[in-house]
Amino acid sequence: AFAAVILAGGSGTRFWPRSRRARAKQVLPLDGERTMIQQTVARLEDMMPDHDVWVITNNLLSDLITTQLPEVSQTRILREPEGRNTAPACGLAAFLLEREAPETIIGIFPSDHTIGNVARYHMILRAGIKLAASGPNMVVLGVPPTRAETGYGYIELGAAVTPTTVGGEAIPVRRVRRFTEKPDAAHARTFLRSGNYVWNSGMFLWSARTLADAIREHAPAMAPLLEKIAAAFGTPEFDQVFAELYPQCESISIDYAVLEPRSAKGEAASELYCLPADFAWNDLGSWAALHEFVSESKEPRNCNVIEAGHDVQIGSSGCYVYSPGKAVALVGVKDLVVVETGDALLITTRDGSQDVGRVVAELKKAG
Ligand code: GDD
Ligand code: MG
Repeated sequence: AFAAVILAGGSGTRFWPRSRRARAKQVLPLDGERTMIQQTVARLEDMMPDHDVWVITNNLLSDLITTQLPEVSQTRILREPEGRNTAPACGLAAFLLEREAPETIIGIFPSDHTIGNVARYHMILRAGIKLAASGPNMVVLGVPPTRAETGYGYIELGAAVTPTTVGGEAIPVRRVRRFTEKPDAAHARTFLRSGNYVWNSGMFLWSARTLADAIREHAPAMAPLLEKIAAAFGTPEFDQVFAELYPQCESISIDYAVLEPRSAKGEAASELYCLPADFAWNDLGSWAALHEFVSESKEPRNCNVIEAGHDVQIGSSGCYVYSPGKAVALVGVKDLVVVETGDALLITTRDGSQDVGRVVAELKKAG
């Protein structure tokens, strides 16, 4: 059996002011009509019509998500009493499913990515499910890097092992030599230059037992708390147990909690494997990334993307403007990001848009 676990509790602060705590990136139609989370679920549906879908989110987003995903069973939309980052969320899914059927293959899916080549995506997922089912394997999907991004995890590729065959095609499999979450800029540049590193896509495949065991091993304080929450699932006490124990879990991502320490065991012992995520993946992590994505241009710096009522452009390039219903004029400016909503206005540059998350932190401080 296959269960898709969709992580949808992030706050997407880098898309301020369009994203607010109650309107994070995953519930916004940033690149089209359907929201990011609807696209995430639909993409999987096309591949495997009868798999289980779990969504782990928070109270602020859960109503919107329930409305956006009528096909997902309400009992499988879990509302965290408090966000504790991705390790407790992944761990809870593992312990819940381990109780039901430990051989279930869990796919972890962030809810805020775009995928260009869905046929290829399905092919790689099938290979990953097969590989994860063939042993205590932990499968990560690695994206060929295009820049020295510091917001991603990096996977140093190790030895090639027997390819996994799906639909008559052999998908290459590499061991993971080292996993490094969010390196500093100097390391990111070195990794990119070496040619032997890929980005972590944030999608993982492993059996419920393998993931649960990894949590027990690498996050021993969190494991018993999550096991107790999982044991209460479906009982009248569940909400109370969840509210009491979940906030006691360390707030840490699965990358820092499990993947980095696991990879430190060395490539022969770690049971970490990497499949190529060569399906036009984009994390849409900033306004600049969104600009690049919607402009469909290899040279986003040369074109303006304007989401507004009407626009006039004179001698301007590389700008992204969002101001629905307004007439917008650009005259002699370049690489600007301007986003206007009912009660807020953001003005930054393409490069500055990486730091927009800090605005949210400042506003929080200011109350
Ligand atoms: N349920 C829940 N609870 N979900 C969460 C929480 C939480 O507390 N925090 C984040 N998420 C969700 C987000 O909504 C997103 O879908 C996913 O988990 C990943 O979280 P991000 O906050 O977006 O992580 P990141 O982008 O900084 O880093 C991760 O993804 C990169 C690729 O996009 C890491 O896995 C990196 O290694 C990776 O390169
Ligand atoms: Mg992300």
